[in-house]
Amino acid sequence: MTGPACTDPRLAPPSGRGLDGAAEGGHRLRGTDSIRRMGLIERYIERLPFAATDPIVSLNEGSTPLIHAPRLSDRVGADVYLKYEGLNPTGSFKDRGMTCAVSAAVREGAEAVICASTGNTAAALAAYAARAGIRGVVLVPDGKIAAGKLAQALMHGAEVIALRGNFDEALRLVRQIADAHPIALVNSVNDFRIEGQKCAAFEIQEDLEGQLDALCIPVGNAGNITAYWKGFRELHAEDPSVSLPRMVGFQARGANPLVRGEAVAAPETVASAIRIGNPARWEEAMTAMTGSGGSVNDVTDEEILDAYRFLAREEGVFCEPASATSVAGLLKHGAGIEPGSDRQRIACVLTGHGLKDPQTAMDESTPVIPCEPSLAALEKVLIR
Ligand SMILES: Cc1ncc(COP(=O)(O)O)c(C=O)c1O
Repeated sequence: MTGPACTDPRLAPPSGRGLDGAAEGGHRLRGTDSIRRMGLIERYIERLPFAATDPIVSLNEGSTPLIHAPRLSDRVGADVYLKYEGLNPTGSFKDRGMTCAVSAAVREGAEAVICASTGNTAAALAAYAARAGIRGVVLVPDGKIAAGKLAQALMHGAEVIALRGNFDEALRLVRQIADAHPIALVNSVNDFRIEGQKCAAFEIQEDLEGQLDALCIPVGNAGNITAYWKGFRELHAEDPSVSLPRMVGFQARGANPLVRGEAVAAPETVASAIRIGNPARWEEAMTAMTGSGGSVNDVTDEEILDAYRFLAREEGVFCEPASATSVAGLLKHGAGIEPGSDRQRIACVLTGHGLKDPQTAMDESTPVIPCEPSLAALEKVLIR
């Protein structure tokens, strides 16, 4: 069935400039919140290694909300904000790095991209490869990634290889493949990933319009903490009155190489996204934490799950277990606030959406309540 002819210019077909067109404004929508409709590269092109004429592969990632958390603030005695990265297009912060890594790969003529992944990088790679029209390949630890992430990677048409090994082994293998074959590696060892992810620091600074005292962040392969630190340092270099926050990293107790000071051969934690025993950006992460007066600490799975439930039930923000590590760490270890100091401002990075891992959510919740279809039965259940 065909409708009336379209006369609204906002619904006109794209002008066809560039791979995606967004950076040239070809597909830009109207609206008061136009920043939220822009892709990351378009928004920060002056701070990124791209030109407006480059082919940009974007899904309008970034510009995620910084949400004040009143109950968490009360518990900590500081003003705490949640950088809710679950609201990126594929539901995690990985989209920031992936728009840059895939755009750069396309610019260099790549026809395929590959990564090792605990799940979220796989989902992001799959979506951006689909958008670019190139082949996407992901290596994931067999049976160890959350259902939502696997569904995303498969649905976007990536070739998903289930490795009978852990993330660290998968990363070693994809590095070897990328060295030997014309296939672009888009793990966070790729510097374009760091470039994209550093932009979250710009957004926090813009949203707060002032001093951030500490950033609490989960650490797995250590790309994200490296990226935030780069972003904050760039802001500080441009304007020394912008102070550098303490970088406070948290790992899961069973996957805590940075805390122990040595690789963990068989990492294990409920927070599958950070089940990593030998982070690729180890040195950079330590430099970020020590150079900012921050620290690295760990939390148990129980503490992660407590924070996960607290965020969902008391703050109304649903993140995945790995993301809750930043809040679990803040609640357990603090963020380096000196007693008697002025009220501080702290941002906790919530790296991925709760819907990524429905199984853990169901396991951690009270069961649904069965009810017969009658008023009496409903009252029996509801009215106490
Ligand atoms: C949800 C989530 N949180 C945190 C991390 C850790 O980030 P990084 O590996 O950059 O340290 C990851 C990495 O996969 C992730 O998916």
